[in-house]
Amino acid sequence: MRGAFITFEGGEGTGKSTQMQLLADRLRQSGVNVTLTREPGGSPGAEALRHVLLSGLAERFGPDTEALLFAAAREDHVRRTILPSLERGDWVLCDRFVDSTRVYQGQIGHADASFIKALEKLSVGAVMPDVTLVLDLDPTIGTMRAAKRRGAAAADRFEREGAEFHRALRESFRELTVREPARCILIDASGAAETVSERIWQAVAARLPVSAHRSSA
Ligand code: TYD
Repeated sequence: MRGAFITFEGGEGTGKSTQMQLLADRLRQSGVNVTLTREPGGSPGAEALRHVLLSGLAERFGPDTEALLFAAAREDHVRRTILPSLERGDWVLCDRFVDSTRVYQGQIGHADASFIKALEKLSVGAVMPDVTLVLDLDPTIGTMRAAKRRGAAAADRFEREGAEFHRALRESFRELTVREPARCILIDASGAAETVSERIWQAVAARLPVSAHRSSA
């Protein structure tokens, strides 16, 4: 049986990677094989592009070119990592995917909408997530968390943006869940990690048949 594909989306410091790990632990305890991955990256070719994108080297070319590079990385990631894992029956949990391009480069960066759509078709094809968890948090808390996690390291291209950018991000991600309710679930990401994790578990279990995917089944 083909595995399920779950993506995590949201602004900076919303706890995506922590929550992805907690969901993976719980799925594994239920007997499900899990592949954890992230964007930009997740395959050797895409990891090579990650540096170009996050250092800000591509910023000078504008949002269309940034979108193009994210899509090139995604095509490699889908073909080499995501699709083979799903075909093996694994559940794939991915930190950011196509919705990040829609929001960061499309809605916030104003890259051309039909261009973004065409890139999606090329890079993702039919491999759309079954469920997208959108972690929603006040950006003042999120950017503080991101700064704490970073410590002395320099902020990346997107972390460097100001408060207005982060507020607009939150709004765009919230709108996404309204536009695509069949796939996207808004998760309140405030409170303790365990509390958020329980919200996520309930949301996932309501949509996907965890027991039907046990590796021993
Ligand atoms: P990263 O350091 O991986 O972490 P986080 O997801 O916790 O912020 O940062 C990835 C950055 O790249 C993030 O600021 C969002 C941005 N991004 C885009 O702008 N477009 C995309 O398509 C993707 C996948 C990411």
